[in-house]
Amino acid sequence: MSLCTTLLLSFLVVQTHTFDFQGGLMTFMPVKRHSNGTISVSFHYKESYRGPCAHQLSWGCGSGDCGQTILAGVTDADKDVSDQRLWCQSEGLILRSLPSDEPFTLRDTGCCWVSNLNNAVDWTLVTTVDMGTRSDTHNLNKSPVMTTVPTIRIAQNCFTTFPLLSHDPDGDQVRCRFEQANTCEKNSCLQHPNFTLNETLCTLQMNNTPSIGVHVFKMVVEDYPTQAITLSYSNGDSSVRNPLDLSVNNSNLVPLSQLPLHFAVEIGSPLATCGSGVVRPQFLFPTPVHGDVHYAVLGQPLTLTLRAQATDSLIYDFQLSGPYNMTKNSFQNDSNGIVQVYVTWTPQENDVFQHLPVCFTAETRESQSEMRCIVVIVERDTLLSVDADISCMDSTISMTLPKDRMQGVEASQLHLKDPTCSLYSNETHIMATFSLSSCGTQILDNGDHIMFKNEINSVKETSVITRRNLVKIPFSCSYPKQAYVSANFRNHKSDYVFTETGFGSFSFSFDFYTDNTFQSKIAPTSYPVEVKLLDKIHVGIHGHSSLSNLVLFVDSCKATPDDNPNNALFYDIIKNGCALDETLIISPGNKTEFKFEIQAFKFSGEFEEVYISCSVIMCDATSSQSRCAQGCVSNPISRRKRELLFQTHKHIITQGPLQLQRHTSSISDRSSSANQSLNAGTLVFAGLFVAAVLVLAGVMVYYRRSIKPLDRTYLLSSS
Ligand SMILES: *[C@@H]1O[C@H](CO)[C@@H](O)[C@H](O)[C@H]1NC(C)=O
Ligand SMILES: *[C@@H]1O[C@H](CO)[C@@H](O)[C@H](O)[C@H]1NC(C)=O
Ligand SMILES: *[C@@H]1O[C@H](CO)[C@@H](O)[C@H](O)[C@H]1NC(C)=O
Ligand SMILES: *[C@@H]1O[C@H](CO)[C@@H](O)[C@H](O)[C@H]1NC(C)=O
Ligand SMILES: *[C@@H]1O[C@H](CO)[C@@H](O)[C@H](O)[C@H]1NC(C)=O
Ligand SMILES: *[C@@H]1O[C@H](CO)[C@@H](O)[C@H](O)[C@H]1NC(C)=O
Ligand SMILES: *[C@@H]1O[C@H](CO)[C@@H](O)[C@H](O)[C@H]1NC(C)=O
Ligand SMILES: *[C@@H]1O[C@H](CO)[C@@H](O)[C@H](O)[C@H]1NC(C)=O
Repeated sequence: MSLCTTLLLSFLVVQTHTFDFQGGLMTFMPVKRHSNGTISVSFHYKESYRGPCAHQLSWGCGSGDCGQTILAGVTDADKDVSDQRLWCQSEGLILRSLPSDEPFTLRDTGCCWVSNLNNAVDWTLVTTVDMGTRSDTHNLNKSPVMTTVPTIRIAQNCFTTFPLLSHDPDGDQVRCRFEQANTCEKNSCLQHPNFTLNETLCTLQMNNTPSIGVHVFKMVVEDYPTQAITLSYSNGDSSVRNPLDLSVNNSNLVPLSQLPLHFAVEIGSPLATCGSGVVRPQFLFPTPVHGDVHYAVLGQPLTLTLRAQATDSLIYDFQLSGPYNMTKNSFQNDSNGIVQVYVTWTPQENDVFQHLPVCFTAETRESQSEMRCIVVIVERDTLLSVDADISCMDSTISMTLPKDRMQGVEASQLHLKDPTCSLYSNETHIMATFSLSSCGTQILDNGDHIMFKNEINSVKETSVITRRNLVKIPFSCSYPKQAYVSANFRNHKSDYVFTETGFGSFSFSFDFYTDNTFQSKIAPTSYPVEVKLLDKIHVGIHGHSSLSNLVLFVDSCKATPDDNPNNALFYDIIKNGCALDETLIISPGNKTEFKFEIQAFKFSGEFEEVYISCSVIMCDATSSQSRCAQGCVSNPISRRKRELLFQTHKHIITQGPLQLQRHTSSISDRSSSANQSLNAGTLVFAGLFVAAVLVLAGVMVYYRRSIKPLDRTYLLSSS
């Protein structure tokens, strides 16, 4: 062995003794006040590393009387077992006995941060604990709960916002802020000119392109009461705590507690596309949604499903930062780049009534999904959870629960995710019906379907005691993404809702209007819409989105005799953004609306109804390359991948039916028409006509101009 290799080896041996620190945090929770005045408090802390795990944190007393440690332990909670060894997080638990309820601080300092752009080397973590009795809950204060996954990686071009968990078990206002110059030691304060922090949402936002590399964030998390309260101490003292008001100078405001939250964000090289689900993993239903609250029961396993997709990359693991003993099981690798893992955890006696944070991400070699965090609340008693009977309608969800399975629960105690949406009941059932866009319904994506999820919860108790069971019944409806409403459904179709990366959730409404002012829609109850031939039909399409800079583009519209937009029998009204029908008049509208009128027509033969289907796109209004910016082009250039960022996919929306008034029609006649036997003559005629149109449709591609008048005479029946 050469000298060189030996030196290299000894160098490596030395190197393994330093660990790449990537963050640390601590939270606390009072466990019990004993009759002799001592208080036991549990502290949970986490330390994160790139590479192998280490147990470097060693908490000392910073100020006040910190009491003594009764129990302490630390374990490696989650690590990257691949050759990349990107992350490892260990979790520590300390149980301390305090002689009194006076405030004190725990403190840890250490070295060395992973190499970073901020030149951060040392850290100082400080936790301020105050065990005074709160005047509002008559209890000891609980700290906010929080965690982050150990390694946070975001591609430079994909960083927009980074939400951290912000939850307080007492319902206090949580504030996240950067360490202040007067509290942080030896120039360790870090400036972040390219990020802004929303202190009350605990969300980092980019305000300039951050440099590639590791950015270190040293933050303090505090809780403030929502109304002024008094803390009283066993020695007879008391002190007031005031709510946070960010519009004034808060530098003298004292929080209930202060926690350290240090973490690193690695800004990586730009990805070809930020569209999640392609290279960057995207979470799919039923993965819990960021901010969700889940309940667990002492001794009963809680299972969460994490499911994610990256079609053009390989998801090899999930990072998980949860309570002690939470484990990932049975990694499953499905088709289309979809992977899934079950996370299980069984609460122990010490966990009862705790609010425990869980954060997770999906990992590929080159990137990471968004980080989602939830809170698990541990209860001692059985949760009441029964299967609700769910009906998924076109635009509403109906839910019924049998009362006999819900002993001691009244409808008045229950509400949907939006607490203003209550339930009602008859003698035997508890019920609710609400639209897909109301009552806090969340829109989620599972790859092939859009899921609408809501849940029934019991009303939050405001009194000091409770005699009621907790209720939590999550339920959801799923709809195919390319939503063609059931062929049996004859009435007006409600809004079409889609979710896409970069565009969030957006919807299209498609309506017929009474006249060319486009002021009043024809009521959904009046469908099918009766029209006379050669009448004007007024059509309006609206795109709805919470994003303000979108523009709607109607790529094509065609008429079909039923609500299948792919029916072989069709008539083009607009194609590739170009008007084809000569009676078409487009009315001016704003960026997100498209209004037109057209003369009524009918498909010749035994076709009484006409449906209109349009293919619509929403684009970023500022892009000059999007399909929307191109307008009418006979041969639209197929989209390059980069342009995916500026426009949504094409979505087909259908409305109808328009029904041609017949001279002899009557109500009873019309309602039975579906079952009427056709006479042989019309059948033959209809068959011939379909063939004729098919031929024409084929020919039209080449001779559209010359045959158009002919085409219209076939379609118009001037009865
Ligand atoms: C107070 O009571 C607790 C629980 O009964 C006990 O563990 C602790 O040692 C006692 N402390 C003192 C100072 O007596
Ligand atoms: C933080 O977000 C909240 C909620 O969106 C908003 O009301 C508040 O103005 C934001 N604060 C800052 C400083 O942007
Ligand atoms: C902040 O943004 C500016 C402009 O994009 C860049 O020059 C600078 O390096 C960035 N600094 C950091 C620390 O990201
Ligand atoms: C807030 O008040 C403190 C002292 O009361 C002062 O030192 C500080 O500069 C003030 N901060 C702002 C932003 O006005
Ligand atoms: C998942 O499946 C793909 C293709 O079948 C395979 O290449 C990959 O190694 C699998 N990944 C894991 C973690 O099993
Ligand atoms: C972790 O799990 C082990 C085995 O199931 C159990 O003995 C231990 O008490 C658990 N620890 C905690 C802190 O829940
Ligand atoms: C209560 O409503 C449910 C659901 O609509 C129904 O099935 C049940 O028969 C009703 N019970 C009574 C007593 O009306
Ligand atoms: C377009 O007009 C409709 C009403 O006709 C309105 O609801 C919508 O907000 C407008 N959109 C924009 C982008 O101005």
